[in-house]
Amino acid sequence: MKILTASGPDLEKAAKALLEGYLVAFPTETVYGLGADAFNARAVAKVFEAKNRPFFDPLIIHIAEMETLPRIVDCNALSAISREKLSILTERLWPGPLTLILPKQKEVPDLTTAGLTTAAVRFPAHPAAQQLIRLSSGAVAAPSANPFGRISPTRAEHVKTGLGDKVDFIIDGGKTQVGLESTVLDLNQEKPLILRPGGVSLETLQALIGAVEFSLDSSPEKPVSPGQLKNHYSPRTPLILCRQGEMDAGAPGEGRLYFSLPKNINRETAFGSIRVLSESSDLAEAAVNLFDMLHELDALGLKLIRAEEAPETGLGLAINDRLRRASGSQQ
Ligand code: TXA
Ligand code: MG
Repeated sequence: MKILTASGPDLEKAAKALLEGYLVAFPTETVYGLGADAFNARAVAKVFEAKNRPFFDPLIIHIAEMETLPRIVDCNALSAISREKLSILTERLWPGPLTLILPKQKEVPDLTTAGLTTAAVRFPAHPAAQQLIRLSSGAVAAPSANPFGRISPTRAEHVKTGLGDKVDFIIDGGKTQVGLESTVLDLNQEKPLILRPGGVSLETLQALIGAVEFSLDSSPEKPVSPGQLKNHYSPRTPLILCRQGEMDAGAPGEGRLYFSLPKNINRETAFGSIRVLSESSDLAEAAVNLFDMLHELDALGLKLIRAEEAPETGLGLAINDRLRRASGSQQ
């Protein structure tokens, strides 16, 4: 495994490697992705192997030019209403942390989409990701660059620690800006359905396209979105979720992840290790810090992590979704 910078010559080298079938981990605005040429089924197979990801869990295809979209998905197979919603969403929210599920084109290998008739597409906002994609085949399949079921990487070091030599190149672009994954929205049905809350809030989507359904009730045996398994995003340390303001004093050897810092806690004298997602209760800041702080707490060898829920609004939905999964429960 070789670490590259996010500079022009290194991105050219990485794009060439992608075209030759190598795996390249790269920064996006959400989390780091483990990239392979989306049209190269052999390279895509290596992504599943490296992550130890089940083959039934489809990958997101990343593009960096709107002209690439028709190569990946068949927008003519959508109803006129859905096409209208698609054009509003892509115009207003791409590039950005929104993944759209659309009817797949035949040229996309079945392995990439796990045999589904739909494909997930995203246009990331990160300049290095965009340049890498443009210099390669134009379509890069990339799940988050973590071992399956573990916390998503928000820094190049997380990728190095989690995947090591299973990845050929890692482009180091520093800490990611959004901090948690894209929102996955199914546009392949009349009522758009959020399959995974993420960097774009439900409220933002509703303001743009009207009614949006929100499905979090998928059972672990039969998830609506194949990746929505119950114990996704788990730290190695057991994690317990607490209601806001209901975290108890804790015990030695325990870590605590607060949404915001309560007045009665003194960080210097409190037991265990404490992290605060946002001292000013800012949801965007909390999202940026979520996986980063979970990685930090997880590295401390603690017996238990207690985590406080965020408010159930805006990005708080995505934060709580990840915390629930980290605790192994969806309730
Ligand atoms: O922010 C992100 O989305 C990051 C960065 C790297 O772009 N990627 C990411 O990929 O989180 P991954 O593979 O960890 O999550 C993709 C999710 C999974 O839950 C998967 O099941 C779902 O998208 N998905 C992909 N294709 C799908 C499809 N055709 N239908 C339904 N769900 C799909
Ligand atoms: Mg993932």
